[in-house]
Amino acid sequence: MDLGLSGKTAIVTGAGSGIGAAIARRFGHEGAHVVVSDINQESAAAVARDITDAGGSALGVAADVTDEAAVSAMVEQAVEAFGTVHILINNAGLARDGRITKMSESDWDLVVDTGLKGAFLCTRAVLPHMTDQKWGRIISMSSRAHNGNPGQANYSAVKAGLIGFTKAMALENGRNFITANAVAPGMIDTPFVRSHPAYEKIRDNAIKTTPIPRVGEAEDVADAVAFLASERASYITGDVLHVTGGRY
Ligand code: NAI
Repeated sequence: MDLGLSGKTAIVTGAGSGIGAAIARRFGHEGAHVVVSDINQESAAAVARDITDAGGSALGVAADVTDEAAVSAMVEQAVEAFGTVHILINNAGLARDGRITKMSESDWDLVVDTGLKGAFLCTRAVLPHMTDQKWGRIISMSSRAHNGNPGQANYSAVKAGLIGFTKAMALENGRNFITANAVAPGMIDTPFVRSHPAYEKIRDNAIKTTPIPRVGEAEDVADAVAFLASERASYITGDVLHVTGGRY
């Protein structure tokens, strides 16, 4: 299936690691121009280098998605290098777990600002380009946790919030042929989950309780994102695609 991604420009936030890096590599493989964006300059540059070494087109950009000026500069760099922006993947996110009564305000703010405000700032910065060209794809990384996870009130609020944000974006921008969708992965084996102190226990439990008995790989999510970003998904908007192996 030709996804029609060749020559399109895609910004992927949080693309220096895990799921974002797999999405960036997948876009590079499909012939897209990839803006590999991350708060960590070295990891963004390394993933961009991988893509160009493999014959693709990529630009590594250091940007904190919670910083409006950095987000504007990131979009300006994308437009300067590749002419416009067709695709935005709001992937940057992190967790600071704890029961609500034990959760600090700073842990709440960090998780909500990175996941939700970051998606808002990036979306607002790219929409004028997508509107002008009457073509755009915005995909935001939710999570199975949008249903609520104990110890993850901040993270669950972000992941549910991204679904509401996605539905509002879809309603506001459909007439300009801009689609907005969310992807909700289950447990995906990335540095993010591997850094959890109970990683092995969580992984073994996930394998036992998932209809497809394995943990997900970042490439499983990248495949779903590539489809939603493609020409083949032009009539799908305001939706949530779960990539959970059937575990809810
Ligand atoms: P990861 O920790 O491997 O990668 C996240 C990347 O985001 C890192 O490179 C980090 O430097 C970057 N980042 C953090 N704060 C940032 C900021 N303010 N501005 C720009 N970049 C920033 O995590 P992973 O697992 O690849 O997760 C990616 C997304 O997928 C996150 O939104 C996460 O919540 C979501 N997700 C992950 C799941 C999993 O099981 N790994 C399951 C469901 C959702």
